Amino acid sequence: MEQISKNRIMERSSIIIVKNLTHYFDTRPLFKNTSFEIEKGSFVFLIGDTGSGKSTLLKILHGEIPPTAGILDIDGFVIGKKKRHDLYKLRRKVAIIYQDFFLIEEISVEENIILPLKCLGIRKQEQKKRLEIVLNILDLSKIKKERCSKLSGGEKQRVAIGRTIITNPSIILADEPTGSLDAKLTMRLMKIFRKLNDHGTTIILATHNLELPKMIKNSQVLKLQNHRLEYVKHELST
Ligand SMILES: Nc1ncnc2c1ncn2[C@@H]1O[C@H](COP(=O)(O)OP(=O)(O)O)[C@@H](O)[C@H]1O
Ligand SMILES: [Mg+2]
Repeated sequence: MEQISKNRIMERSSIIIVKNLTHYFDTRPLFKNTSFEIEKGSFVFLIGDTGSGKSTLLKILHGEIPPTAGILDIDGFVIGKKKRHDLYKLRRKVAIIYQDFFLIEEISVEENIILPLKCLGIRKQEQKKRLEIVLNILDLSKIKKERCSKLSGGEKQRVAIGRTIITNPSIILADEPTGSLDAKLTMRLMKIFRKLNDHGTTIILATHNLELPKMIKNSQVLKLQNHRLEYVKHELST
């Protein structure tokens, strides 16, 4: 198996290096021997037709699905085809926002957001501090005591993001986060992602909305086509 040295990451400032990724579901190929890198601090839109494998790629990057072949270096955590049993180390760096939120409906906004910190055993005082910051960023302070079952789609989306960013991940993976939002809420959500990116978080956002990359200056577009991933130019790319 090819080794990826940490030095190379430092040289190129790539936070993600994917080498010869191949993935099959049964006999159906999704990725065939494809390689790409993602620069630290970049904002990458992952585009591709429905069924091309965007969600699967995010799950591979999150360590949920081991790839059929290939090697991935995610901020120093190396994933191969063998399932790793120390995924918690990866989860401290990489957070994912699923399309269908996965909130606990019966508990409140603040209880949902703070949950990952309880799992990580963070001190109560620190939990509260981070909660206040996240509630502010996402404009959720006024409804922090509301039960999630009572929220609108846009509010639930923001709670899901809050739960993701409260762990201070270096990489955020977002799977079609604007899929169920109208234009106004889409704009608002993109502003939040932009703010997080401005603070240094690397963002990989899967979408089939080709208008989104135009909202983020200097973003990159990684296109999934013919079982390969390649960067393509877009209007605001440099
Ligand atoms: N766990 C799985 N087992 C078998 N096939 C799957 C699984 N997950 C996804 N697929 C198939 O892989 C293909 C890509 O799915 P997906 O990654 O969800 O694509 P996208 O997000 O681009 O729409 C689809 O044909 C889907 O049915
Ligand atoms: Mg998908």
